[in-house]
Amino acid sequence: MSATPRRALVTGASSGIGEATARALASAGYRVALWARRTDELERVRRSLERADEHRSFSCDLRDSAEITRAMREVRDTFGGLELLVQNAGHGYLAKVEETDSAQLRSLFETNVVGVLDVSRAALPLLRAGERPVVVLMSSIVARRGIPGQVAYAASKAALNSIGEGLRIEWARDRIHVCILDVGLTRTPFFATQPNPARLSGPNLDGAARAEDVASSVLALDRSPRPELYLSAKWRLLGIVNVLAPRLADRLLVRKLGGGWSVPPR
Ligand SMILES: NC(=O)c1ccc[n+]([C@@H]2O[C@H](COP(=O)([O-])OP(=O)(O)OC[C@H]3O[C@@H](n4cnc5c(N)ncnc54)[C@H](OP(=O)(O)O)[C@@H]3O)[C@@H](O)[C@H]2O)c1
Repeated sequence: MSATPRRALVTGASSGIGEATARALASAGYRVALWARRTDELERVRRSLERADEHRSFSCDLRDSAEITRAMREVRDTFGGLELLVQNAGHGYLAKVEETDSAQLRSLFETNVVGVLDVSRAALPLLRAGERPVVVLMSSIVARRGIPGQVAYAASKAALNSIGEGLRIEWARDRIHVCILDVGLTRTPFFATQPNPARLSGPNLDGAARAEDVASSVLALDRSPRPELYLSAKWRLLGIVNVLAPRLADRLLVRKLGGGWSVPPR
């Protein structure tokens, strides 16, 4: 542990990957600001962390830019600056496009995309005040290839990757590292809490990663930042094939997903 602890903000720290990340960071000596909407859950997580009194919970709904401004001001007043920003909060939407609802689509993009941009803008002065600042964007293996039944979610993660690529250059002058973490199937409440209006079957979670494994990758990125880290080699390959030979990618994807999807006609 260094003499001056690194200061981290983790959005979506009330469950799953965000909770595991907050725990891993606290164990590694960081001071952690935990963000989410459910303050009771945030406090449960904070109290369970090593050196619980050094960390702080902040209620914030990422769909509300005024809440983001207020919560970031509270982080600044408490921590002064940030070394690590983990933009993890987000949710899925398991539905064919014909089953989607406009209000839920807006809520998804407000959380997974607009919220990330609002948090980025609000966090910039704190990151500038930090020592060797790093940003980790919690993306998904579906960001580089659209998939049926999760079209809106995958599109939101594609947007997130684009944000990461642009921000990496916008913030290079400030020496802020921006890293994209493309996460594979991970066992968390994500699948139970996402809207699923037609009760489509979710993925088989046998063999899914643990949230703690993803949290280790966040720590690794903070120690040694890189533009993008894929947690599944197969999906990385699919993303590359998709650019070069989209019809082949369609066929591979339909075979991998099963579930009655069809290969598009030629
Ligand atoms: N699990 C996977 O297989 C998987 C795979 C690839 C990528 N990911 C990504 O990993 C991230 C974390 O997901 P997870 O699997 O850990 O799911 P999770 O356990 O459901 O956690 C989602 C977190 O996001 C927060 N959140 C959701 N909407 C919010 C809003 N409007 N404002 C503020 N916070 C909000 C939730 O907190 P509150 O409800 O308390 O607000 C919760 O802490 C997501 O971005 C997800 O897309 C997950």
